[in-house]
Amino acid sequence: MKNIHINTHPIVQDRLTKLRNVATRPKTFRQCLNDIALHLAIDATANLPTYKKTIETPITETEGTLLTEVNPLIIPILRAGLALSESLQTILPNADTGHIGLARDHDTHEPVEYLNKLPSDLNRPIFVVDPMLATGGSMIATLDILMNAGAKAENIIIITLLCAPEGVNNLRQKYPDIAIYTAAIDDHLNEDAYIVPGLGDAGDRYFGTV
Ligand code: PRP
Ligand code: URA
Repeated sequence: MKNIHINTHPIVQDRLTKLRNVATRPKTFRQCLNDIALHLAIDATANLPTYKKTIETPITETEGTLLTEVNPLIIPILRAGLALSESLQTILPNADTGHIGLARDHDTHEPVEYLNKLPSDLNRPIFVVDPMLATGGSMIATLDILMNAGAKAENIIIITLLCAPEGVNNLRQKYPDIAIYTAAIDDHLNEDAYIVPGLGDAGDRYFGTV
């Protein structure tokens, strides 16, 4: 599929298998998710703008590469998105964070918005992070909020741990080109719109509210 980057690194796939295991407790679940988040964060930041600078090492002069001084924006979709944004912030210490709070209605599976706290400057790289892309409804609603607030699709990158093909297809109908960085595309959604095989409710397992 177009512009979807699946990280097949053995450490990522090892941690993903541990996340999938129903016997994994919240402490290990958090550690594994944080490990994957760091790998996906490194993948997703691969095209940040850089410039060349001549510096002195203790031995000689050399030309190095530095990140251009823009403050990227991280948008975690609450609540589970916080599990990814913390790792992204560690490698992008100058990044700002805007929060979008959405909770899926248990019956309709539609996202219900409960928080919208964005900075005014949306003209910069934006990383939208949420571990689960199931129906895609929460991600599409967040992208719609960002577009209505003035963001440009070409500045947006999605980081998500696990996707359902249905969610990717729904997202692609409306946002055909936005890059997605993920650890896996699973098989399908079940009748409750949970990802199969999946890992259950990411937020509940991460925060221990099962
Ligand atoms: C989960 C998940 C996504 C959403 C994915 O959040 O973190 O935000 O569901 O489903 P979708 O693609 O069908 O919209 P949830 O609403 O359970 O809230 P939480 O993060 O507070 O656990
Ligand atoms: N949200 C989750 O946390 N898990 C799913 O499988 C689907 C939506």
